[in-house]
Amino acid sequence: MIEKIKSLEKIARELEPEKETQEELTQKVINHSDDFLANLSDEKAFFQNPEPKDQDQLSEAPTAIEELLKCLRSNVEYDGINAASGGHMGYVPGGGLYPSALGDFLAAMSNKYAGIYFPAPGAARMENMLIRWMNELMSFPSGATGNLTSGGSISNLIAVVTAREAAEVRASHFDKLVVYLSDQAHHSLQKALRIAGLGEAHLRYLPVDSEFRIDISTLDATIAKDRDSGLIPFFINASLGTTNTGTIDPIDSMATIARRHKVWFHVDAAYGGFFRMLPEIREKTKGIEKADSITLDPHKSLFLPFGTGAVLIKDLKSVYKAHRYTADYLQDLVDSDSEVNAADVSPELTKHFRGLRMWLPLKLFGLKPFRAALEEKMLLAQYFRKQIKKEDGFEVAPVPDLSITMFRYIPADGDANAFNEKLIKAIQDDGRIFLSSTSIHGIFWIRVAIVVFRTHKDKIDLLLSIIKEKVRTLDK
Ligand SMILES: Cc1ncc(COP(=O)(O)O)c(C=O)c1O
Repeated sequence: MIEKIKSLEKIARELEPEKETQEELTQKVINHSDDFLANLSDEKAFFQNPEPKDQDQLSEAPTAIEELLKCLRSNVEYDGINAASGGHMGYVPGGGLYPSALGDFLAAMSNKYAGIYFPAPGAARMENMLIRWMNELMSFPSGATGNLTSGGSISNLIAVVTAREAAEVRASHFDKLVVYLSDQAHHSLQKALRIAGLGEAHLRYLPVDSEFRIDISTLDATIAKDRDSGLIPFFINASLGTTNTGTIDPIDSMATIARRHKVWFHVDAAYGGFFRMLPEIREKTKGIEKADSITLDPHKSLFLPFGTGAVLIKDLKSVYKAHRYTADYLQDLVDSDSEVNAADVSPELTKHFRGLRMWLPLKLFGLKPFRAALEEKMLLAQYFRKQIKKEDGFEVAPVPDLSITMFRYIPADGDANAFNEKLIKAIQDDGRIFLSSTSIHGIFWIRVAIVVFRTHKDKIDLLLSIIKEKVRTLDK
């Protein structure tokens, strides 16, 4: 047996290469990433490679790093949306700050177990410090809790299941629950309800005004009527930055109504939350401090790489009721009086130490450039809107609250929706800038979502010239 162990050890040690080999690997990966970044501003924002590539298979034999990086470049990095590019203005783009990549490297290298305080007190303290900072940004009280999630969808799920526990929902209540939202709310909320077992809840879609903002004139009466008829008003959702148009719902008035009726009030600030670093948006989002829960996405307006969300919740007791478990094999754990375990406030146990990818850039750069970048993106959206509006035939959406705007071209003849479908296809086929479209109340709009930290005025000017060029070709 000893001989067998020794021979296995010899092979297993290949998992820990010699220092020189490790240095060589690191250097090659750095060279690869340097090359990617050096070419980024001139590269396309969207690669369409219709030919399916050979799916490379795993094998017993090793593969050289050069070959792997080559495969990564052509099969992954230069395929589909180039999400790191300043030309990516589709959907709600993300970021990918360089120090976050270094933070991920360090987190994977030390492999700290950030789910529980006892095995990784420093990691838990770091993540909790970031949550406290976000709670302060949202004017939440010091006793509020939260979690660094993998994204807004999981944040919304944590908020929904916590609201379910807070309201002591039982199976017999499922088809009596009522959720109040607009048709501009992100679909992850409906998905969260279904995952939480609340798919039978009634969804009351409140009307939106001409700026796609929830019209709350009927909310108070609707809740009262629902309660009178034996239903259970359960959850009100406001958006701080809708996905379609970046609109901010009337948070303060909605909070007041929610309080009056003792209904859980959630603000989905996945896209817009960090714009509260700007005094103007802080003012516009007054009342958020009255929410019960807030979803944030640092991988959107804090420019972090995908896989970084956050949820903030005031009622720790209900979060624990929804998520906290113990087990025989965890009996050695010692709780901290002051630090919350991430595992007790989320579905995860062993989790990625994602705090490091957030902490490193925030500390390294300080908050100032983040604030500047957010204001720049908002102004760029206004600049784009102003410029495109000057051109003949273009219609624009209302003045944006944040950094998403929309436009469409109305051709002299023919159906406008059909024309804009062709226009978005032509822009995507071109690939220098990536935009996506949406349909709101039967109207086809092309969206410009300015969220990537690398998007500056030169890219907006390029976009304006591409749009004009494509319209000239299509509207002959
Ligand atoms: C307003 C809003 N909420 C929630 C989500 C879902 O977030 P994620 O994609 O990070 O899961 C999004 C995604 O774009 C969003 O825009």
